[in-house]
Amino acid sequence: MNIGILGYGTVGRNVHKLLGAVDGVSVKYVLEQRGKLTESFMTPDPELILSDPDIELIVDALPGIHPSYEYMKEALSHGKHVVSSNKAAICFGFTELHELAKENHVSLLYEASCGGGIPIIEEILRIGALDDISRVSGILNGTSNYMLWQMDKAGMSYEDALRDAQRLGYAEADPTADVSGFDVKNKIIILSSLAFDGYVEKDIPMIGIEAITKEMMDGLRAQQKAVKLMGIAVKEGDRYALAVTPVIVSSLSLEANVPLNFNIVSFEGNYVGEVKLYGQGAGGDPTADAVVRDILKVARGDAACYERHFTKTLAYDPSLLRGRCHVGDRVLEDAVLAEASAQAIREQVPFAFEFNA
Ligand code: HSE
Repeated sequence: MNIGILGYGTVGRNVHKLLGAVDGVSVKYVLEQRGKLTESFMTPDPELILSDPDIELIVDALPGIHPSYEYMKEALSHGKHVVSSNKAAICFGFTELHELAKENHVSLLYEASCGGGIPIIEEILRIGALDDISRVSGILNGTSNYMLWQMDKAGMSYEDALRDAQRLGYAEADPTADVSGFDVKNKIIILSSLAFDGYVEKDIPMIGIEAITKEMMDGLRAQQKAVKLMGIAVKEGDRYALAVTPVIVSSLSLEANVPLNFNIVSFEGNYVGEVKLYGQGAGGDPTADAVVRDILKVARGDAACYERHFTKTLAYDPSLLRGRCHVGDRVLEDAVLAEASAQAIREQVPFAFEFNA
């Protein structure tokens, strides 16, 4: 199978490297910027790749929504399978891209878009084929987890921790998406749509880690607690709620002990109970591994088991997410997260959420 790779940054370059050890998949072209064309297989012309009838699958390893979204649409319309690591573009065009893939009888796979190398989507789809999944939550951003970990355990400043995460290849091209919660928002929207088998609301509460201080972490440690940036999605019947927020957890929890760039995702099925998956959520090799696993699903004819048809009509009900809300210095017991976090934004004070005991 001939493939084309769009983008040669941390992900694209590592996908190319890993494919060197895979039989039956050959990289015909890589899309690269005009000033960086160092190899004969590189081209600055997306049309050469997207309209080449020899290319059966496109890997989208570009950052940001545009032009990734337009390239994926064009590839699917030309009957090419698409494998993407780009959560921003997948989330942006979620409905349209899935409909195009269905119309053109091709696969749209994006395991690498959520949780780096962790096979989250694979497991959600496998378990969701039998179980009713009522909750998905977790630490879904390696950069912010790395920063919180280094601030808490190594006494690093916010700025030094961010610089380190960028140097290690964890952060987005614009790291605002990592620290503001926007990256987690894309991921929890993708994961909950798959878990709940329906398209979900995109305008959801979102608070990042910008207001978290060393002093706050020290205070929590004294109470055997820690703070983690998490995406949360819950469903009851056909109603659901989602949010991205700093969450205060017990220091004995698995979440509190997730180090560095690692991610953890939990979900709950009615038969299987709670499942937790843990691994590296950012970085070139883990993310490329997830991309190549998706390419192999297509190459081996297994991809259909990993597609969702979003058959359920769901109703967004933010009141489903309630708990202890920390709004500045005040603690609101059993409050609705959406309302309390909006209040914190209005008052420009820090916000954190704790699940009801
Ligand atoms: N910037 C992202 C993160 C990369 O830090 O998790 C993986 O999606």
